[in-house]
This record gives sequence, C-alpha cells and structure tokens, in this order.
Amino acid sequence: MAKKNPWFDKWAKKAKEKGFPARSVFKLEEIQKKYRILRPGFLVLDLGCAPGSWSKFAAKLVGAKGKVVGVDLQEVKISLPNFVFLQKDAFTLGNKDFEALEIKNFDVVLSDMAPKTTGDKFGDHVRSVELAKKAFELAIQLLKKGGSLVIKVFEGEKTPLLKKEIEKSFKSVKFFKPKSSRKESREIFIIALGFKG
Ligand SMILES: C[S@@+](CC[C@H](N)C(=O)[O-])C[C@H]1O[C@@H](n2cnc3c(N)ncnc32)[C@H](O)[C@@H]1O
Repeated sequence: MAKKNPWFDKWAKKAKEKGFPARSVFKLEEIQKKYRILRPGFLVLDLGCAPGSWSKFAAKLVGAKGKVVGVDLQEVKISLPNFVFLQKDAFTLGNKDFEALEIKNFDVVLSDMAPKTTGDKFGDHVRSVELAKKAFELAIQLLKKGGSLVIKVFEGEKTPLLKKEIEKSFKSVKFFKPKSSRKESREIFIIALGFKG
C-alpha cells in the first residue's frame, strides 16, 4: 500500500471541504492574495486545468461577466455557467479554438501544466520548461496589453533563462513559491505582470 503523506492529506482534505477537486487551489489563492491578478469581468485562459480547482476558483472571482476557458489533455468534471472546457493538448491550440468561442484576447493566462514526473529530475525539468515555454508563447499571442501570466515550472538550470525571456515582454517578472507548495517540490511559479503588447 502507498505510504500516506500527512502534509498532502491535510491540504487535500481542506480543498475537498471547500468544494475544490484538488489542493492546488491554495497555491492560486496565495498568488491571488499577493498579486491580485483576477478581477470581476476578466477573461482567463487556464492551461492544464484538470481536475479543475484553479478554474473553479478563477470562475468565482471573474463572476458572471467574466469567463474562464480551461484546457487539458484530461477530462474535467466541473460545470459552471462561466467556464468553457477544451479537451486538448496545449501544443495543438490555435486561433480557431478561440474564434469558435468568440474570444480574441485574455486578461490573464494561467498555466499549472506539469509533465508526468518520472524520477529523472533533469528530464522532468526539461519537459516542464517545454510546457512553460508553450504557455509563454500562447500568452504572447493571446494576452491583452497590461495582462498577466502565471506559469508553473519545475526549477532547474533552464529556469533563469526562461525568466529572462519572459522579462522582455512584461513590466515585472517574479518567482513565487506558495507556502501550500511542498518544500521538497521543485515547482515554482513565474508571475509576469503588465504585458507590453
Ligand atoms: C497539476 S495538474 C493541474 C491542476 C489544476 N490547476 C487544478 O487546479 O485542478 C497539471 C495538469 O497539466 C495537464 N497537462 C500536461 N501537459 C499538458 C498539455 N500538453 N496540454 C494540456 N494539458 C496538459 C495534465 O493533464 C494535468 O491535468
């Protein structure tokens, strides 16, 4: 039987009690508390949204006048009036997907995308950076001027260069490690504010 992780259990239980499918919601909650990226009426693209905690949290904050478009390889079970789900690989997303939704630009692009970890730390880092670069590329195509981007990445030797690349297109770019993220986890979030357009 798999060994129990009390840390994981505590946050997962807390998320379930609050009606969220995954404990990852607390990470976005911390990001929101510090950076106030989500506001009523905003259009949000949530890459790697399954099982749906971030989308549910964002949908609540953007309200009825806003919309969250979630994308994931895996199915999502949440159903909300201001949430649209595209079951797709982020690498195959194109303008047509958004035209069909009558959306041209987003106020915020979120990416909690993560590769399946293999135990090979460098390989996992490289695959995570590939996903992060895709999220950045989509943000460049789809963000409104002044918009925000949040990207999860597994830290490693390629992260400083990735941050430098992102800095060219945003007014402010910071690393953020939420308290609800396990200390031993190599995940870190890049918070990029003020897209230069
Ligand atoms: C940590 S989970 C996201 C949790 C989510 N933010 C939540 O709050 O419920 C990472 C997700 O990234 C997705 N993912 C990984 N590679 C992807 C890709 N190329 N395109 C779309 N989604 C991808 C996985 O399927 C997985 O569901």
